[in-house]
Amino acid sequence: MNIDHVATVRQARRGESPDPVAWAVAAERAGAQGITCHLRVDRRHIQDEDVRRLREAVTTLLNLEMALEPGIVEIALASGADQFCIVPENRKEITTEGGLNAVAEADRLALVVPRLRQVGGQVSLFVDPDLEQLDAASRAEAEYVELHTGSYSNARGAERERELGRLARACERAHELGLRVNAGHGLDYDNVDAIAALPHVEELNIGHSIVSRSLTVGVEGAIREMIAAFGSP
Ligand code: PXP
Repeated sequence: MNIDHVATVRQARRGESPDPVAWAVAAERAGAQGITCHLRVDRRHIQDEDVRRLREAVTTLLNLEMALEPGIVEIALASGADQFCIVPENRKEITTEGGLNAVAEADRLALVVPRLRQVGGQVSLFVDPDLEQLDAASRAEAEYVELHTGSYSNARGAERERELGRLARACERAHELGLRVNAGHGLDYDNVDAIAALPHVEELNIGHSIVSRSLTVGVEGAIREMIAAFGSP
């Protein structure tokens, strides 16, 4: 469960509510098996203090999304997060746009990935389902890739089927390379089942659709409906 957008609503007034940490605890109670937050360089939603409080409150798995920026890397190293997902960050984007270019970032990854692993975190790279990105993730010694499902989510009809095929091939290739596979971005109640059924996929990271749905049915209802939508808890 990605809780960034709970913090987005709070930051609209720079106040204390809604509290993303309380929201995360309710999500866990309803069956979420991990909590994800993205501490962006511009701090547009999650704040440093949220990461600290989440580490105290989260009892499942805390996954910190992070850019390869020196200040963020230092915070990540001290955060105690269980998993680090390295993402690209572009100041003007509305949400994370493309995947990380693990080929072009090989040098920075070679410096950062071993440090994150040394503090006991599992490292994941958020990449497009492209074979050269998977090879680069493997060379960087990441444990996981999170496959970017944004193109699949935005596509319709035959194009969506093509994107699904691309994701399926990426899952197989990642598995052959010894990488574990997560997926996320743009997943919702209608498109999640095909992604949950892909080979080797272990975790799905879903934010916007569940936070949106919770406005109508509450946190627990929104989580339970999502678990029902992807088939099994
Ligand atoms: N995975 C990554 C790496 C992301 O950056 C995001 C968006 O913050 C998500 C998953 C969740 O995407 P969405 O909010 O569209 O479900």
